[in-house]
Amino acid sequence: MIPDILTIKPDVYFTGAFDPKIRTFDIIMKTANGSSYNSYVVRGSEGAAVMDTVKKEFSDDFFARLERLCDYSEIRYIVLHHLEPDHSGALIELMSRAPEAKLIISGRAVMMLKGIIRTDIPYEIATTGKKISLGDKTIEFLMTPFLHWPDTMSSYLHEEKLLFSGDVFGSHYYDERLFDDAVGDFSYAFQYYYDHIMRPFKQHVLNALKLYARFDIDLIAPLHGPILRSNPQGYIAKYAQWSSEAKFRKNEFGTKMLSVFYISSYDNTHKMAEKMMQGADAVEGIRASMYDLASLDENNMIDLLEESDAVLVGSPTINGDAVKPAWDLLSCMSYLESNGKIGATFGSYGWTGEAPEMLHDRLRGLKFRVPLSPMKVKLIPTEEELEECVAFGREIAEIAMGKMVEIEM
Ligand code: FEO
Repeated sequence: MIPDILTIKPDVYFTGAFDPKIRTFDIIMKTANGSSYNSYVVRGSEGAAVMDTVKKEFSDDFFARLERLCDYSEIRYIVLHHLEPDHSGALIELMSRAPEAKLIISGRAVMMLKGIIRTDIPYEIATTGKKISLGDKTIEFLMTPFLHWPDTMSSYLHEEKLLFSGDVFGSHYYDERLFDDAVGDFSYAFQYYYDHIMRPFKQHVLNALKLYARFDIDLIAPLHGPILRSNPQGYIAKYAQWSSEAKFRKNEFGTKMLSVFYISSYDNTHKMAEKMMQGADAVEGIRASMYDLASLDENNMIDLLEESDAVLVGSPTINGDAVKPAWDLLSCMSYLESNGKIGATFGSYGWTGEAPEMLHDRLRGLKFRVPLSPMKVKLIPTEEELEECVAFGREIAEIAMGKMVEIEM
């Protein structure tokens, strides 16, 4: 079937592919409305540029659209804003069909190019401010790393005030009506995408927004989901808000936040947690809180972890392991930056007591600073041990406040 020509701006066309059936993306993301792999072609008076390709299985759709818009001999540039296979899947075939085209990638994409493409192909490296000309069309590159891969860049088509944003501002939301003001309500998908893809890189989002602010943006063309034309500044403002906002009130009080997460089967680990919180909260500048992991849902875990400067995790040992809610808590870190957070672990045990060490190792693997050895207590803590728990909490709080200690790396 011959595809429709989908024009998104004068001389700029959609060459992407729709994937209405996908229900899970990158293993972790649910995609109730499917998705799209957006690609675009810019036609100028002196040739064309292809902006990204699609997932390999969708190459036929991509080439069918492309061939309606230009001859391969007209393609002067192939720009890959990000090399993940959902956007680079048709690259090798495209380069064989358009051998004169120059591939343009970011400097950080070079290593990935070899890993993903598994072959040597020529490329040029884009940097912020570098431009390419298609005669009457000029594309300027902007480095926006870690959104969400290190290689990510964006670009700006000056004559049309169009931002090619890479995965930034994307949504997994299939709708062939294409534009944000024509598709169904995708606001949940837009935020879900931010939460799962961009949230761990908030500071990089803010850096990218500063770069974008230099330009008058009339339309945003992301790599997934609706093209944003109705109010681009509104979407930019949402990203700015989500990347800046505090979920909890600690900032209002100027304190650091220390969270004690615990789970307890016979109240022993709970007693330890209470004493640790008591010790921590007595340190000036610390606001300590305590949470029973048995009743904390994942969204709250993510928010609390994000805003905690120090995290204590307590679990009993059952069958030689920490219990699942403790592991679930730490798995939430995949959504977040650990950026110097301080961690410590503890727990009561009956026989072997491996859980605190296992959690300690995991925290270290997640790049937490873990200054104290795990604290273990056999069965019911004695009064003396409870006093040690108070001291343990106090010590972690003092370290969070800047006390210098040797930190195991
Ligand atoms: Fe849509 Fe990060 O690839």
